[in-house]
Amino acid sequence: MIVKVFGCALMGVEAQLITIEVNVSRVAKIYMVGLPDNAVKESHQRISSALKNIGCKIPIKEITINLAPADIKKEGSAYDLPIAVGILSATNQLKCKNRLKDYLIMGELALDGKIRPIKGILSIATFAKNNGFKGLIVSSDNAKEAALIKGLEVYGAYNIKDINNHFNGFLKIKKTYNYPALSSRTDFMLDFNEVKGQNYVKRAIEIAAAGSHNILLIGPPGSGKSMLAKRIPSILPPLSIDEAIETAKIYSCIGKVNSFSGMVDYRPFRSPHHTVSNVALAGGGSNPIPGEISLAHNGVLFLDELPEFKRDALEVLRQPLEDRKIVISRAMKSVEYPANFMLVGAMNPSPNGGFEDLNSINPERKSSVKKYLSKLSGPLMDRIDIQIEVLPVSYEDISSKIKQESSHEIQKRVVKARKIQLSRYKKYALYSNSELTPKLMDNYCKLDFESEKLIKLAVKKMSLSVRSFTRIKKVARTIADLEGSEQIQKIHLFEAIQYRKLDRIKI
Ligand SMILES: Nc1ncnc2c1ncn2[C@@H]1O[C@H](COP(=O)(O)OP(=O)(O)OP(=O)(O)O)[C@@H](O)[C@H]1O
Ligand SMILES: [Mg+2]
Repeated sequence: MIVKVFGCALMGVEAQLITIEVNVSRVAKIYMVGLPDNAVKESHQRISSALKNIGCKIPIKEITINLAPADIKKEGSAYDLPIAVGILSATNQLKCKNRLKDYLIMGELALDGKIRPIKGILSIATFAKNNGFKGLIVSSDNAKEAALIKGLEVYGAYNIKDINNHFNGFLKIKKTYNYPALSSRTDFMLDFNEVKGQNYVKRAIEIAAAGSHNILLIGPPGSGKSMLAKRIPSILPPLSIDEAIETAKIYSCIGKVNSFSGMVDYRPFRSPHHTVSNVALAGGGSNPIPGEISLAHNGVLFLDELPEFKRDALEVLRQPLEDRKIVISRAMKSVEYPANFMLVGAMNPSPNGGFEDLNSINPERKSSVKKYLSKLSGPLMDRIDIQIEVLPVSYEDISSKIKQESSHEIQKRVVKARKIQLSRYKKYALYSNSELTPKLMDNYCKLDFESEKLIKLAVKKMSLSVRSFTRIKKVARTIADLEGSEQIQKIHLFEAIQYRKLDRIKI
């Protein structure tokens, strides 16, 4: 007889239905068909041992297991549990077969029958919800994560024996519930009140956080660039539940959600080293996994010592910075990962560390500075809205006893400005000024006569590209929002123009 059990395969953060068909007939052999990888093929060893250890029988008959559809590659050990449940059911050791169709069943089996957690359970739960399944049967270690998706019956089991007893009516596995709470954390380990002085840089960072603008900090060694950048998450608006679940789905794919809450509680801050490979940065591999840009989704991607990154690794960022997602194409499948992050870069102004006056240095030195800066391609720089110079903190500031403003105070202003943006762009499903399209900019970034005159002058003097011109207007929009001003005024625009440091370095 044939029994069907349902599970899922992951395609990026999307899950796809896999039907596990088990047929038992007379010869003693297990056949596995339907494009299983080696880990799936080996599952019959784990399953045989697990079933024997819980006192169930593997019949001396031929068992055929078909994982359908056949054109999707099935990877990993997560199919152990649905296959084992299928065998139990096909051999009449598990009753109530008709109830199996209501659940997605996924998990890895240990040799003693214990169920181990698997990766990507949040995507699988979303799929179950969207496709009319009643619920999920998973490892108890996965249950909290699955229960983040409301409206599903989630049963977390420790051992396959519990599942057998549950269906046979000898035990009732308790349903798992999860009520995710929004974090209202104000006690960040890294707080802006530890940074002395640097008020103009803090102001630029506040604007970047308020409008989710990409920002580049340019300054000599020791000026505090890394110190400032690492404190940015402390002033970003708290994650909403939807954003938290979106981000958790990506972390779930690599098995790294908070085991207690089942999700990601804070905006991620990813800081890959400059030797990072293109795949680790963007995602990919033969069995694709999300890269740093996706792990930074809804948070910050910090690239310290920006020009030290390989040029092609930086170029990889261009498309996701525009599209806010990355598509990884492989021969068998193409997967998509979200990648909506705020890019924060830090760099020295020259290979020697300090600022160089290009008009007065010798030609050899000038060419080495040019080479260093040219690593940052124009198109990438154009996508960075705010470029700010960080000068070393003065003696007066560093020795001052004046209390510095805390991250919590700055965050309040950021949240206020974000709320204005959220309500303004509600009908377009946009979150911040940085996402404005040219058409929407015509509506929301209108300039008055005086401001038009100012920007015309700036374009002429600084030979601005069309992209930087657009960036300036978006940043000016955020400055106006921080002030609660409906109209962008000349003073807002003037400040935004100051944040184009690299446009002002003539090489
Ligand atoms: N404004 C400041 N207030 C308090 N401490 C500071 C400040 N600026 C720098 N420091 C101190 O100097 C240290 C070095 O700063 P940081 O590593 O951030 O510099 P950097 O600009 O990133 O240098 P590099 O270019 O070498 O990476 C900090 O860890 C901090 O202790
Ligand atoms: Mg640094």
